[in-house]
Amino acid sequence: MSTLPPSVRLETGRGGLPVLRVSALAATAEIYLHGAHVTSWVPMGQRPVVWLSAASRFDADSAIRGGVPICFPWFGARAGHPEGPQHGFARLSHWELVDTRDQGDEVVVQLRLTDSEATRASDWPYMFAATFTVVVGAQLSMTLEVMNRDTTEFTFEEALHTYLAVGDVRATEVSGLEGTPYVDRPTGPDPVPGEPGTARFTDLTDRIYLATAARTTVRDVAGGRAIGISKDGSDSTVVWNPWVDNARAMADFGDDEWTGMICVETCNVRDDSVLLEPDQSHSMTARLEVSALSTP
Ligand code: BG6
Repeated sequence: MSTLPPSVRLETGRGGLPVLRVSALAATAEIYLHGAHVTSWVPMGQRPVVWLSAASRFDADSAIRGGVPICFPWFGARAGHPEGPQHGFARLSHWELVDTRDQGDEVVVQLRLTDSEATRASDWPYMFAATFTVVVGAQLSMTLEVMNRDTTEFTFEEALHTYLAVGDVRATEVSGLEGTPYVDRPTGPDPVPGEPGTARFTDLTDRIYLATAARTTVRDVAGGRAIGISKDGSDSTVVWNPWVDNARAMADFGDDEWTGMICVETCNVRDDSVLLEPDQSHSMTARLEVSALSTP
């Protein structure tokens, strides 16, 4: 890795973990090499858009709570292997920094994870290269590209598990998923018909919307802004808020923090898993942008 541009500093972050601090003209961001985890994106003049728990752990053995965990190569518990780490090994792995550069007003950061002795010994033993490219600017663009370097095909799930900061989740709605069937994880496993209206939050919400490439918009009424999430190469969207009891049950999540966040996750999970032949690759991109709230 050549020298960093002045817009990027590699520093020791929380828990002694290495962190990239990015200052683009229109935004700042922080990316931990542990998990290739974006923990902050603050467009100029805005409050933080990406939410981070004040109770998060920062150590090499734990996933960071908040930001944008990368779930790969499976989502949730590994089917048939509940002993495997929830949401896969990517968010618990150290990613190698491969490139940082200025690109006009934006800053590009690229990190890579490849198979290791530990991953080859896991229940997902394949040879792969995953490249995560973050473009920091007035928009935040995140692309996860997975390449099959093995001699056999493989299937994987993936999620850019994006935690978004909102003024009050009880006064927030998510549009773009109207009429889309979803798996309600607490009651699942079969998909239920989509609802006609925008998604609103009155209780634990943990939904996998399937077969949707739609752009979603988070209308943060209490915060007076809208967050748009557009995506490419992604056929599922997960929406999650833990609500009261599940927030209390998580040691790395403040008891009252659930009111200030909503996860809208750009994914390929369950029936939308990706099958790759040797030498093939697949890219999935999520792009976030913020605007003032317009009246509906
Ligand atoms: C969501 C899942 O994506 O992630 C939820 O749909 C899960 O079921 C949540 O509780 C948080 O997962 P974790 O492993 O980070 O606590």
